[in-house]
Amino acid sequence: MKNILEAPFVKEMCATTANMYRLGWDERNGGNISYLLDENEVAQYLDLNEVIRTIPTGFEAKELIGRIFIVTGTGKYFKNVENDPENNLGIIRIAKDGTTAELLWGYADGGKFTSELPAHLMSHVARLSVDNENRVIIHSHPTNTLAMNFVHELDEKKFTHTLWEMCTECIVVFPDGVGILPWMLCGTNSIGETTAAKMKEFRLVIWGMHGIYGAGKSLDETFGLIETVEKAAQIYMLTAHLPRINTIKDKEMKELAEFFGVDYRKDFLNL
Ligand code: 13P
Ligand code: ZN
Repeated sequence: MKNILEAPFVKEMCATTANMYRLGWDERNGGNISYLLDENEVAQYLDLNEVIRTIPTGFEAKELIGRIFIVTGTGKYFKNVENDPENNLGIIRIAKDGTTAELLWGYADGGKFTSELPAHLMSHVARLSVDNENRVIIHSHPTNTLAMNFVHELDEKKFTHTLWEMCTECIVVFPDGVGILPWMLCGTNSIGETTAAKMKEFRLVIWGMHGIYGAGKSLDETFGLIETVEKAAQIYMLTAHLPRINTIKDKEMKELAEFFGVDYRKDFLNL
């Protein structure tokens, strides 16, 4: 059996959480990540018949029975993951009942998965239904994206349009735009269901005055999506109080989307 600490998926989780912490997006225990793993790959590192303990999830995820995820722990600090993955991360398999997580590795100090597991797993189900290569859900509190929530209308078309205007490549990176939820109580099945409903349409969902969810094929791709939104929000926050002299025009955004061949939200432009 190979050393789990050398597994690419553990190393990638360490690198991603460390990056996010250093960028200031994930203060204290803010943010969480879930990453759908390949069973055959995990079997090289863990005995899949050895369940350390079982943890009820509090909701049913029939579509994910038997699926294995590596998930950040609740209350754990992204700052600490790199130096202590076994306490801060866990590898879980959704049991046959669809409502229990079987712990295969991690949460070594008796901890458990993120309180946002409903939003993560329900979003995985939603994304997998539209793209069977989706493997990653990331939740984070990026500073400028959050700041923008307080000074910009929380309207999907207007918010997306403003972000697209801030960096030339935004419309190419997230042509599907960003979905937005109003402020809601976090950690609940209800915010999970609402997030997942948005995830059928968007790979990025803002939780009003809380943070953002991103979905993608890999940790890199999903991180890059959130990073691009955050960069655009930063440009917005640096310029919102200044007179706007120049802007990227809607016809230029259309030109970009067409040149790069992306299927964009045409109804989010004003042409
Ligand atoms: P957890 O510590 O349970 O992952 O929660 C952090 C968070 O960002 C809640 O939205
Ligand atoms: Zn949060």
